[in-house]
Amino acid sequence: ASTVHPPKITTVKALVESSGSSSIPSFYNFTPYFRDEPIAGDAEDSVPIIDISLLVSGTPEEQSQIIHQLSKACSDWGCFMVINHDVTESLTKAMIASFQEFFDLPEEEKREYQGNHVMDPIRCGTGFNPSVDKANYWRDFLKCFAHPEFHTPNKPAAFSEIAREFSKKTREVVIILLKAISKSLGLEESYVEKAANFELGLQLLAANYYPACPEPEKAIGIPAHYDHGLLTTLVNNGVSGLQVKYKEKWYNVNIPANVLFVQVADHLEILSNGKYKSIAHRALVNNKATRMSIAIAHGPALDTVMRPAPELVDNESDQPAYVEMTYGKFLELQQTGRLSSKFRSDTEQ
Ligand code: SIN
Ligand code: FE2
Repeated sequence: ASTVHPPKITTVKALVESSGSSSIPSFYNFTPYFRDEPIAGDAEDSVPIIDISLLVSGTPEEQSQIIHQLSKACSDWGCFMVINHDVTESLTKAMIASFQEFFDLPEEEKREYQGNHVMDPIRCGTGFNPSVDKANYWRDFLKCFAHPEFHTPNKPAAFSEIAREFSKKTREVVIILLKAISKSLGLEESYVEKAANFELGLQLLAANYYPACPEPEKAIGIPAHYDHGLLTTLVNNGVSGLQVKYKEKWYNVNIPANVLFVQVADHLEILSNGKYKSIAHRALVNNKATRMSIAIAHGPALDTVMRPAPELVDNESDQPAYVEMTYGKFLELQQTGRLSSKFRSDTEQ
């Protein structure tokens, strides 16, 4: 049997470290693809804040107040900041430091984990969706399946243990949120978990590495996109760059330490029959500091077909709003740029 070696990729990190140039190679120039979209400003004063401790141990009145806030957050913004959760700042810092150590490994060692397929349980690379990317993106990444099976590189030494704890703690927060979100939709509290077969749900731990860029206005870390799971949780290293789209304008989101930033993703939009909208977001780069973010996609089980909850479907309209397919199929189509635009009318890419 012959082994097919994928072409060697050059990470953005290696490019920056080897060139020291004050301009970027032309294939990283994304400006021909940027639409002239107005930026509205910083969002942190307006993005809803959810105090999750009140969901867990608040009075019944406090709990229903938070559920109401969640309903508003998911239907209006499609994202929110979770405070007073159990993913400690020291665990988050350790996780970011471990990913940094991974990205600092020699290029040949990282290449061992280089992959091109969305179903590879460990995959590092550069860009966004290499098979459909229009330009090179200013981003390196490492993605690991954390659930139902847990996979991580075996270096750096402490990586696996820290990633296991970080993924588990984050998942616990998400389970609390999914119960409250079910209630916020007028559904029984385990509805979303059951419909998604969440016990076998895919949890994808992804780190994004955006080196400082000499021409940040020409490059982009990740172009506008929607996430595929139910919810995405995000933390970063204190360097900003995330933008979310709200009412046709882009807003900067600075994620404070101790906050889990949560985004509504496609499969919650489907389940809610569009009541909750998956949020478009992108990552910009800057010329001062390397930015790192850690996103976890919390999705249904791969063989699960998500459908709108019947309670949320108006029986008068006969047109199904979403194409039915397994989550696994959805991922594959999204990865290869073949996800039907029928999935959503305002698809960006
Ligand atoms: C992502 O969309 O996965 C990354 C967003 C970020 O870097 O903040
Ligand atoms: Fe994303």
